Amino acid sequence: ISRFPLIPVRGVPLMCSIANNWDSVWSFCPDPADLLIATYPKAGTTWTQEIVDLLLHNGDAEACKRAPTPVRSPFLEIFSPPPIPSGLDYLKNMDPPRIIKTHLPFQLVPTGFWENKCKVIYVSRNAKDNLVSYFHFDCMNMTQPEPGPWEGYISKFMHGELSWGSWYDHVKGYWAEREKRNILYLFYEDMKEKRNILYLFYEDMKENPRREVERIMRYLDLSVSDEVISRIVELTSFKNMKENPMTNYSCVPPPVFDQSISPFMRKGEVGDWRNHFTPEQSKMFDEDYEKQMKGVNIPFRDLI
Ligand code: A3P
Repeated sequence: ISRFPLIPVRGVPLMCSIANNWDSVWSFCPDPADLLIATYPKAGTTWTQEIVDLLLHNGDAEACKRAPTPVRSPFLEIFSPPPIPSGLDYLKNMDPPRIIKTHLPFQLVPTGFWENKCKVIYVSRNAKDNLVSYFHFDCMNMTQPEPGPWEGYISKFMHGELSWGSWYDHVKGYWAEREKRNILYLFYEDMKEKRNILYLFYEDMKENPRREVERIMRYLDLSVSDEVISRIVELTSFKNMKENPMTNYSCVPPPVFDQSISPFMRKGEVGDWRNHFTPEQSKMFDEDYEKQMKGVNIPFRDLI
């Protein structure tokens, strides 16, 4: 296991295991029934995957355990270091409908997802908390480049130099597509709800998990009982997911993830950035944020 440098793919820095196999990622063609869960890393991917998985299994946690992958849904991208198997290999052996996870920015998602009108759930998280979570993750994930000191890490985040590129471009890319479809489906309420990207916010999930689970349920055209919803909310609480071997990534042992440095299920809170940013760092970040997000009105919260 080595902390290899990142390699740009169309200007986006990616792990070399992905960049070196880019053709097979780019040519992947999903089934129309497949669901894509897309996120910038550390925005709430695992949480959303778990909710979706439980919804599809009517809240039956035992049935979820029989999933073909040790860590929820497979990654679209290639992950080579053992013991993490390649997501693409998993996908080849699974029947649709498959839940596929990706951290790719919008422009690098294989076009088959759009051509086949696959459902897409995008999860976003306010930039400062996302950055903090990513910093701790890079400390413990030995396949990512060294995070270096905190101060420099903020700068790398602001300049889009981390794995998967710019957070700003990422959240804006999927948002722009969502807005485009909103206009396209203006007169078709149902299409607008069901055929658009479902754009979720981590802060909303924390505020009212039940409401967000129900939102996902409607998007997936599922109908589960109130009792099952309650069970799903309980099973996907931070506390339960931290203890659950299917979600706490204990299946990715050292030397890949060293959870003694920082657990995968670390804190699960909104506003932890206040414990990391100095007032000066926060001010500098806010000024740059305004420039990078100019003209885009994505309703992020708890940022100031
Ligand atoms: P923190 O590092 O802030 O604790 P991802 O799955 O995209 O890698 O995101 C991981 C982040 O989501 C971590 O954030 C993790 O603790 C948080 N998380 C995972 N499951 C959660 C849950 N059920 N409730 C709240 N936060 C959760």
